[in-house]
Amino acid sequence: MKRPAVLFVCLGNICRSPLAEAAFRQVCDRSGFDADIDSAGTGNWHIGDAPDMRAQAVARKNGVDISAYRARQICTKDFQRFDHILAMDHANLRDIRSLQPADSVAQVRLLLADQRRGVGKEVADPYYGGADGFEITWSAVASGANALLDALSKRKSV
Ligand code: 4NP
Repeated sequence: MKRPAVLFVCLGNICRSPLAEAAFRQVCDRSGFDADIDSAGTGNWHIGDAPDMRAQAVARKNGVDISAYRARQICTKDFQRFDHILAMDHANLRDIRSLQPADSVAQVRLLLADQRRGVGKEVADPYYGGADGFEITWSAVASGANALLDALSKRKSV
């Protein structure tokens, strides 16, 4: 079976989605799971930028170096390349869906979707807060990354 391709998406691609990418790379590496992994933003303000220093710091503290990541904006090709596009919040989800072509390969949902209740939780935007917000972000994306790996490795629908 083809390895799954997963794209994490937030607004700027400098805080939440790079951390989700890092957390998912870490759990995949640890369990020997092969996936095509990337992240992007719905906005264009930070294209080419490294992750926010606070995001870099919390990733480093948790064992991942994200200093070489560079922000990019989601594009229509992403709907063919990726099997799963995972939004951090409802605004991201709405913006992604507004770009989604009719022949999209990708399934689009919130990272923290709750399959049983059919609802989802947001990964709150830490950009305008302090460093503690980035600890909360790491916990949220790490929990989403673990659940996603579990679902993909059991080939459940995600
Ligand atoms: P992110 O956070 O979407 O988690 O990368 C933000 C980064 C930048 C901005 C907003 C949110 N901004 O307004 O520039």
